[in-house]
Amino acid sequence: MKITIFGTGYVGLVTGTCLADVGHDVLCMDVDAEKITRLEAGEIPIYEPGLESMVKHNVGTGRLRFTTDPAEAVAFGVLQFIAVGTPPDEDGSADLQYVLAVADTIGEHMQEDKVIVDKSTVPVGTADKVLAQVQKRLASRGAEFDVEVCSNPEFLKEGAAIEDFTHGARIIVGTNSERVKRLMRECYAPYIRLQEKLMFMDVRAAELTKYAANAMLATKISFMNEIANLAERLGADVEQVRRGIGSDPRIGYHFIYPGCGYGGSCFPKDVQALERTARDVDYQAELLAAVESVNNRQKQTLFSKLANAFDGDLKGRTIALWGLSFKPNTDDMRDAPSRTLMEALWDAGATVQAYDPEAMKECRRLYGERDDLLLAGDRVQAVKGADALVICTEWKEFRSLDFAWLKSQLSMPVIVDGRNLYDPEIVRDAGLMYYAVGRGDSL
Ligand code: UGA
Repeated sequence: MKITIFGTGYVGLVTGTCLADVGHDVLCMDVDAEKITRLEAGEIPIYEPGLESMVKHNVGTGRLRFTTDPAEAVAFGVLQFIAVGTPPDEDGSADLQYVLAVADTIGEHMQEDKVIVDKSTVPVGTADKVLAQVQKRLASRGAEFDVEVCSNPEFLKEGAAIEDFTHGARIIVGTNSERVKRLMRECYAPYIRLQEKLMFMDVRAAELTKYAANAMLATKISFMNEIANLAERLGADVEQVRRGIGSDPRIGYHFIYPGCGYGGSCFPKDVQALERTARDVDYQAELLAAVESVNNRQKQTLFSKLANAFDGDLKGRTIALWGLSFKPNTDDMRDAPSRTLMEALWDAGATVQAYDPEAMKECRRLYGERDDLLLAGDRVQAVKGADALVICTEWKEFRSLDFAWLKSQLSMPVIVDGRNLYDPEIVRDAGLMYYAVGRGDSL
């Protein structure tokens, strides 16, 4: 099957590569010529385990190709996937300019009937807007072709994107058209197990499903963070509470890990966008607003714990920071809790000595060269000469630690652990002060 993907960002590249890998002919289009040249050479702009070799392999077979030519892209695929970004507007709503620009391109160049597939995370009603935009463009050319738009939201997690694409919990397709259903079945047919998970529904329900899923997951996290903050004040250990409630299958163990707040390119933006959508239809989404504000507060807690440990004075201190990315197995620092912490530390006059297995380059790109940001070559270098250690991301290599060694390195025996990686008793037995999230007296 011939498939065009607009956008070679995270979603577009993973989708295009996975579809080529099962035998489809895929053409990915991007307006960024430099990116396309790099991709053609098998160089990928993001860190995602397994993706680079998969791109190289499929470029080698000729099934995965890239272009900057819109006419070629539109002519190529029966299915035209839109997988461009929907960054938040100033008011928190999703900015549809890139999605609508693709719709315009399709309307400008199409010479036969097309099916458009919305993969970008877009507010309810966007499929209608895309259709209207294409039709407007067709009318301006005096052309008449049949266009159908369906919604096929993605549920990929960064760091596990290929696995999520090939073994996802479901494929949602929003359409009432039999022709579109047939084509989408054909598209996903090579994934035998996924086929059973293909769920057809109305376009608007599909669009809302995406937001509802992310908002629900974000709610679970904010809920647990709220309980963690309570546990701290009540002298209870939230990790015991987590196990206690997770054992109820109605609650479950997934996504109830308290921490230093959720980050990334999806949860913060999607919760905000759904709240905004609610406002547009005169509904005040109180729970969503609370989920967001609990998260914003949670991102500040690491700094408060550190400030408390240093009696409110962090000026001139050097803080070792392990983990910059918003979660492990990615170099993505969008809305990462590490950023809130670093910025607060700098405001307080402290120096950050940071290490992350993947996100060092990204950190430099975001903050540039500055005297109060030292990027260390490894976790050991990061604590050398530091006053205290903070952990923001639960990378595997941080999970085991020689606490006696750590104590000998730090001027103040303080660990602030935003991911509850260690056994408080063991850390404290080594003579360290351990401030985790929601674990007894770790305020
Ligand atoms: C999220 C969803 O999990 C995907 O299903 C969805 O497709 C994707 O957004 C998207 O909309 O594109 P992602 O942002 O890659 O995926 O990362 P997650 O693994 O969900 O983690 C998000 C944040 O929540 C991280 O900062 C993580 O540390 C935090 N988190 C997660 C917790 O604090 N506690 C948990 O129990 C789980």
